[in-house]
Amino acid sequence: MFAELEAGIGNAPEPIGHDEYRQRQSRLLSQLDNGDLLIICSRPPAVRSNDVEHPYRNNSDMMYLCGWNDGESVLIAQHTGDAWSVELFVQPRDVLMEIWNGRRPGTEGALAEWPIDAAHSIEDLETILGDLLNRCSKVYLRTKFNLGVDAQVDSAMSRRDRDRQHHGTGPVAIVDPSNIIAEMRLRKTPSEIAQMRHACEISSMAHIAAMKHAEPGIGEWQLEAILEGFFRYAKASGIAYPSIVGCGDNATILHYNTNQMRCGDGDVVLIDAGGEYSGYASDITRSWPINGKFSPAQREIYDLVLKSQLAAIEQCRVGIPYDAPHNTACEVLAQGLIELGIIKSSLGEALEPEGELSHWYMHNTGHWIGMDVHDVGIYRPKGEPRLFEAGMVITVEPGLYFGAWRDDVEIDQRWAGIGIRIEDDVLITDDEPDVLSSFCPKNPDELESIIGTAGVI
Ligand code: GLY
Ligand code: MN
Ligand code: MN
Repeated sequence: MFAELEAGIGNAPEPIGHDEYRQRQSRLLSQLDNGDLLIICSRPPAVRSNDVEHPYRNNSDMMYLCGWNDGESVLIAQHTGDAWSVELFVQPRDVLMEIWNGRRPGTEGALAEWPIDAAHSIEDLETILGDLLNRCSKVYLRTKFNLGVDAQVDSAMSRRDRDRQHHGTGPVAIVDPSNIIAEMRLRKTPSEIAQMRHACEISSMAHIAAMKHAEPGIGEWQLEAILEGFFRYAKASGIAYPSIVGCGDNATILHYNTNQMRCGDGDVVLIDAGGEYSGYASDITRSWPINGKFSPAQREIYDLVLKSQLAAIEQCRVGIPYDAPHNTACEVLAQGLIELGIIKSSLGEALEPEGELSHWYMHNTGHWIGMDVHDVGIYRPKGEPRLFEAGMVITVEPGLYFGAWRDDVEIDQRWAGIGIRIEDDVLITDDEPDVLSSFCPKNPDELESIIGTAGVI
């Protein structure tokens, strides 16, 4: 059922090349002193029960620096006197373990196929790290990812305290490298943008598949299955975050993801779902009528949210503060709700932090997106809003939520049970905003012309 849709996806991009990983490593290491040691640890796998684990995905910093996605790994960079050496500690080859759990590249495979200078068995980490710690001055380490490494660094620091007067060796400080890496990850390269555009194309097609197969009575879980089935069909690694498929009142619960209800005739369904492709996330929301026709009230709210989203996207330009899209979306939404008679206060009052708009729109309009769906990067360095630069990617996702179930506010019956969000991923360029998810329809007439056209599965 997906082949026709898949044909509409652009060619898969080339994977990130070794040259680019090497450039990332150099840019990071050039900010360290020669006596420093950089340690990036994978997190341990999460146990689901007994000997069953949740699907593994490495931490994004490790993948960003060398593309390695297996657990039980540690990347260390040391300055050898001539140059930086980037070394990876990995699980060694082990036929018995590989029979059960899958192939391992081992040290030879890691060195041959990954952009690193040396590979070691993870079993040798303690010895080699002990030696490196004795010789280094500062350790760049994000703690809490590998408790064994934390303990070893900690004990080297204590030893250093005791021996300082005698030998003058050993680390004097632990520094979290996350912010340095985050500053790099915040600005995407052309090949990263290609991965993200592809993730958005796959996800857009998945949304279209869900639209085509919808009809009253379909289960939220069935729409979820179509979306996530298509992600995998198109070779996404899977979901970038748990898919939200909420119809009717469920659409007014921001992170609803139980996805267990049947969609009723007359419901709007809100789908917030994105696939991850080669380590890069997409994050797309569309809201549309299950029966293929917006009611007049639904259409009024949809048109207002779309108007606010288009105005917010216009703000995604070089030199504009990151929060300008949010401020613009809020103004458009508040003004529109005043005109619809839903907000009774003045525009200024409605926009106050606890003003009337906050009853119906209670989240931010966007976040950085990249390797993580809520990606790294400080929004307000030194307390001031960051200005957009070319290469940054931000979501733009205004919404309005009139939960009929709420008892904290009153809403006229006309609007009760309507939840609408429209979300796209927008690349800042030196020119116009580049909507990476533009392939996913959002014009209401176009949506109505697509919904239900495939018949139900
Ligand atoms: N899908 C989560 C979000 O939009 O932030
Ligand atoms: Mn989002
Ligand atoms: Mn989302």
